Amino acid sequence: MTTLPTPPAPGPTPAIGIHDLSLATGHFVLPHATLAAHNGTDVGKYHIGIGQRSMSVAAADEDIVTLGAAAAAPLIATHGSDNIRTVVFATESSIDQAKSAGVYVHSLLGLPSASRVVELKQACYAATAGLQFAIGLIRRDPTQRVLVIASDVSRYDLDSPGEATQGAAAVALLVSADPALLAVEDPSGVFTADVMDFWRPNYRTAALVDGQESITAYLQAVEGCWKDYTEQGGRDLEDFAAFCYHQPFTKMAYKAHRHLLNYTGHATDEDRAYAAIARTTAYNAVIGNSYTASVYLALAALLEGEQDLDGRPVGFLSYGSGSVAEFFAATVVPGYRDALRTQAHRAAVDGRTELDYPAYRALHTAVLPTDGGDHRIAAQTTGPFRLAALRGHKRIYETR
Ligand code: HMG
Repeated sequence: MTTLPTPPAPGPTPAIGIHDLSLATGHFVLPHATLAAHNGTDVGKYHIGIGQRSMSVAAADEDIVTLGAAAAAPLIATHGSDNIRTVVFATESSIDQAKSAGVYVHSLLGLPSASRVVELKQACYAATAGLQFAIGLIRRDPTQRVLVIASDVSRYDLDSPGEATQGAAAVALLVSADPALLAVEDPSGVFTADVMDFWRPNYRTAALVDGQESITAYLQAVEGCWKDYTEQGGRDLEDFAAFCYHQPFTKMAYKAHRHLLNYTGHATDEDRAYAAIARTTAYNAVIGNSYTASVYLALAALLEGEQDLDGRPVGFLSYGSGSVAEFFAATVVPGYRDALRTQAHRAAVDGRTELDYPAYRALHTAVLPTDGGDHRIAAQTTGPFRLAALRGHKRIYETR
């Protein structure tokens, strides 16, 4: 019998996580006060009831590709593209049933041909799957880096309850060993349940949702993945400096956290929930639901806030309808402030052009031609990339 060689002893595992984070938002913004004035809703329902002030709206020449490329371009400009051998594009607003939106971004950013590019889908959860897959790849070869892009345009029917919870944004994460921002920990708590709380059949451009059922399904997933997280030997709830939840509307993060506190036998008072959540909502409250990007917008808001988080653990709850959820912990890397893009992010959000109600409605009801003809798309966005034309059923993008 042949003797198998003894495998080498494993070396120390380097910290792996988010090295850099960059966001992009839709060109336009619709204040909830404008929506409320149109539909006769008391604006308090939006500002207080769901915790939203405004929502980003994509221009006619923006889509998940232009937003994703705009989010990722600053990462490539700063760090170059060497050793980025994988690009994961997470979205639920897909523009093609076959080709990954990430391939367009790969081309727009001039990334190396020696790379794999793939699109991932599971509602708002997919970017977290991308992050975890990236960590696995980097654990196998710590010299590699992975670009994870979360990009979505959230659309519900006009005059539906979901309308107030739309948005449009992208977050790009550069995932690497020895990260500058956040070291992701093991274990994760994961949860899947087959529920029809929110879905979008291939023939629809706007999602269908059972609003109250979706909230119940989210809370059930919070319990499910926390239970698994503790069974896998995770941290105690008390350890965490803050919690980044998926935020379809910011009030949902409070509902979810109070639910978790109650489930784990803690007091559910407002102060406790506020201390855990308030620093994570600044971007989501003004951008709206950015689906896959939302939980990482919560992270951006937290890191860019005033509190010093050096070495502190943060809890993440990533939820995607349908439903899949994951709870994981990550430690903020000491010195992280030097790697933040606070000014650029605030400029992007503050630089949006405000829409009045008729202009918003016109954008919402506009449909791209499907006849395969040659259609130029008028320039609207001032972003670095735009959808310039449709020609022969192909999307033609332009870099400024
Ligand atoms: P609705 O029926 O319009 O609102 O739907 P409501 O009657 O439930 O009111 C909302 C809150 O405002 C309530 O507070 C009211 O009391 C309060 P709560 O009881 O929840 O604490 N309110 C007021 N507060 C102050 N002043 C007032 C006032 N009036 C009422 N004057 C709903 C709201 C969120 C259901 C709807 O917008 C919707 O269907 N949104 C889309 C679905 C959604 O966002 N679900 C969240 C969980 S699922 C999820 O997160 C996944 C998702 O992102 C998709 C994915 O994974 O891909 C959606």
